[in-house]
Amino acid sequence: MPFPFTMFMVASFYFENPYRTCRVFSPVVGVNAWADGAVYSCWSPRWSGSGKMTILMKFCTLVVSVLCLPLHLMHAVGLYEIYKRVFPFCVYRISITYNKKMHDKKKELFRSLPEFNKPDGQLTLLEIGCGSGTNFEFYPPGCRVICTDPNPHFQKYLNKSMGENDHLKYDRFMVASGEDMRSVEDESVDVVVCTLVLCSVKDIPQTLREVHRILRPGGAFFFIEHVVADTSTWSYFFQHVFQPAWYYFGDGCEITRETWKHVETAGFSELKLRHVEAPLLFLIKPHITGYAVK
Ligand SMILES: C[S@@+](CC[C@H](N)C(=O)[O-])C[C@H]1O[C@@H](n2cnc3c(N)ncnc32)[C@H](O)[C@@H]1O
Repeated sequence: MPFPFTMFMVASFYFENPYRTCRVFSPVVGVNAWADGAVYSCWSPRWSGSGKMTILMKFCTLVVSVLCLPLHLMHAVGLYEIYKRVFPFCVYRISITYNKKMHDKKKELFRSLPEFNKPDGQLTLLEIGCGSGTNFEFYPPGCRVICTDPNPHFQKYLNKSMGENDHLKYDRFMVASGEDMRSVEDESVDVVVCTLVLCSVKDIPQTLREVHRILRPGGAFFFIEHVVADTSTWSYFFQHVFQPAWYYFGDGCEITRETWKHVETAGFSELKLRHVEAPLLFLIKPHITGYAVK
């Protein structure tokens, strides 16, 4: 029974693996690694991506993918669109917990926002994939916010967050994907924010080209994203195994992306990026956070 076997492996490694709190240095250090450098804990450093383990990982991934066949079919015939209505409620609920656990990291990151004010002190910020507006509480008073998300069903939750954060000036909510923000003029915003979105966009390089286009020179792109784990860890193994199911649960979210590589090569003049371990489920523990200046 392959699926129960997989579940058994998850449980046994989580509860019994003595190496799960081991600290390792990430092999990947961003351009100008920020502050204390790129350090994160791994769940288990014991598997080394050997040929046999790679075959096992691919086999388990295939099993999960086969089990997801009904979801693949629902997607193919368009029934999955129903989930787009439910997903905003899920994000709204999950983001309350996420914000509690990531409060300090978000606060630390967004503290740098006022550095990108225009000379007259104004700050125009565009958020890509704003979801339910979970970041609003971290934006500085008076900041003008343009919200964008391809899913119009977020509007209800967005309105709620706007009501709770009246220290901001809301410009508009645009139903748009990060890959295509054509109604936003070139070099018209001071800051672009993206949290937990580059895992879901269809085309990261195109999204980053759009970010670069709409930022004024000297403006900045702020991000917090979960990413793929270090290749030597069990987290990496299970991220790949569960990816086919996670894709549907997360409305197109991929937990196996090396997002930092795209940010590093997107043509920004300065990049502050660090790898951190978020106090979350092991599958989405590895995060990158920072900002890139145009
Ligand atoms: C996990 S939610 C994160 C929401 C919010 N940014 C947060 O931090 O709570 C992912 C968001 O990305 C949005 N999204 C999915 N595909 C996108 C795309 N191509 N462009 C922009 N946003 C996208 C989804 O609609 C959803 O709002």
